[in-house]
Amino acid sequence: MRAPTYMATLAAALFGVPATATEDACKTRYSKWMASSIISREQGIMTGEGGASEALQAGFVQKAFTALSTYYPKSAATYEQYVRKSALSATQFLSNASNDALSYPMDRLSNGNAALALSPTKGTSPYRITAEALRQSITLNRRNAENGLWYFVYPYWSYLDGMYSLGPFYTLYTLTTPSNSSSATAAALADMVYQFEILWDHTRNVSTGLLTHGYDALRDAVWADPKTGASPYVWGRSLGWYTMALLDTIEILDKEEAPSKYKTPLLEKFQALIPAVIKNVDPNTGGWWQIVDQGEREGNYIESSATAMFSYSLLKGVRLGYLPSKLAPTATKLGTQAQKLLTDTFVVKEADGTLGYNGTVAVCSLNSTATFEYYVGQPILYNSVLGSAAYLLASLEVERLG
Ligand SMILES: *[C@@H]1O[C@H](CO)[C@@H](O)[C@H](O)[C@H]1NC(C)=O
Ligand SMILES: *[C@@H]1O[C@H](CO)[C@@H](O)[C@H](O)[C@H]1NC(C)=O
Ligand SMILES: *[C@@H]1O[C@H](CO)[C@@H](O)[C@H](O)[C@H]1NC(C)=O
Ligand SMILES: *[C@@H]1O[C@H](CO)[C@@H](O)[C@H](O)[C@H]1NC(C)=O
Ligand SMILES: *[C@@H]1O[C@H](CO)[C@@H](O)[C@H](O)[C@H]1NC(C)=O
Repeated sequence: MRAPTYMATLAAALFGVPATATEDACKTRYSKWMASSIISREQGIMTGEGGASEALQAGFVQKAFTALSTYYPKSAATYEQYVRKSALSATQFLSNASNDALSYPMDRLSNGNAALALSPTKGTSPYRITAEALRQSITLNRRNAENGLWYFVYPYWSYLDGMYSLGPFYTLYTLTTPSNSSSATAAALADMVYQFEILWDHTRNVSTGLLTHGYDALRDAVWADPKTGASPYVWGRSLGWYTMALLDTIEILDKEEAPSKYKTPLLEKFQALIPAVIKNVDPNTGGWWQIVDQGEREGNYIESSATAMFSYSLLKGVRLGYLPSKLAPTATKLGTQAQKLLTDTFVVKEADGTLGYNGTVAVCSLNSTATFEYYVGQPILYNSVLGSAAYLLASLEVERLG
């Protein structure tokens, strides 16, 4: 998959990739190259026609590009401009709280962090209106009898996936928006932590330490465990969302100097989950499976969005000191090795100088049989931004290692 020299030159001209860099994998800034490629495909901009995961695609691109702009200040203007473009597109769809809660899964909330950054004080900018609507939509979001938030329209079902969008936004909003009462602030932060906890309690398999995709609070679904309501399989990407959610939420709690009682339970979960993630890496490739704990069972495969999410979580967990130091060398090695696998196996150097990204599974829903065959039979997409933006984030962490 090595680009010919004139392609490398073209890439250099178009995307700021040094002409010789494609010959030297260590020096190539794959994070920036993938960002330029995402921009050239105009991904992460809401149009209203991109299907159920459109809001998540936009929010995830905003978060990935924001991370990139803080590490590469010279190129920051380009990334910030794209974040604004994406966030502005989201304001057209997400500025009505009741509609947000009814028409979009919890993933909509991933758009809230950029909206807050673009309108740090209350006011009437479209970004602030959207941030306020998104916050209000948490209050309007339906809940089960134990106060767990439904993921979407499926009655009484909660998914791990939603936490990536809920945790960081709920936290940042609460800690940066002046509130009428300190008890309201405390209640919101406690509720945020609780949403992580209730999913953990229902979906964690104590023998593997891994979490399954979600649970049905009524235990009615065909797949529901009669005791816990849990779905049966550990879907890589949903566990990836949850793992990144813990990490990014802890980071915000730290930055905003929140009381440690909110951080502690999240950090404990992160530190308990990472060893289980490490234990389930595929020793032959260094990647993670679509169904994480089913290894080489027929039909299972190494999935490129989950692998990128775990690579990011391991490396960033070490960088921020959120993993015990005795785990750091292994975590760094596995995180780096996984990003290299992705670069060698799933990244495609296109003739036009952009990078493609392969091997990302389409949406897997619990509105299904939720069998092993269902998960491994879902289509695999080329250039899904849910995979490529995760790869961007993992690559950025590798580049930060120097
Ligand atoms: C907001 O959304 C709700 C639910 O879809 C709808 O009934 C209402 O008319 C909308 N409000 C505005 C101002 O558009
Ligand atoms: C906070 O106070 C303002 C002004 O008194 C009021 O308009 C608003 O509804 C209050 N917000 C909440 C969440 O109580
Ligand atoms: C936990 O995982 C193990 C290994 O995959 C499996 O055998 C067991 O049935 C699971 N437990 C539950 C309660 O699903
Ligand atoms: C993506 O992966 C599939 C499965 O390995 C392969 O058939 C397809 O050719 C790949 N697409 C590209 C553009 O490399
Ligand atoms: C759930 O799945 C069924 C069967 O595929 C489908 O008819 C229905 O529209 C789905 N529900 C939602 C809310 O997507």
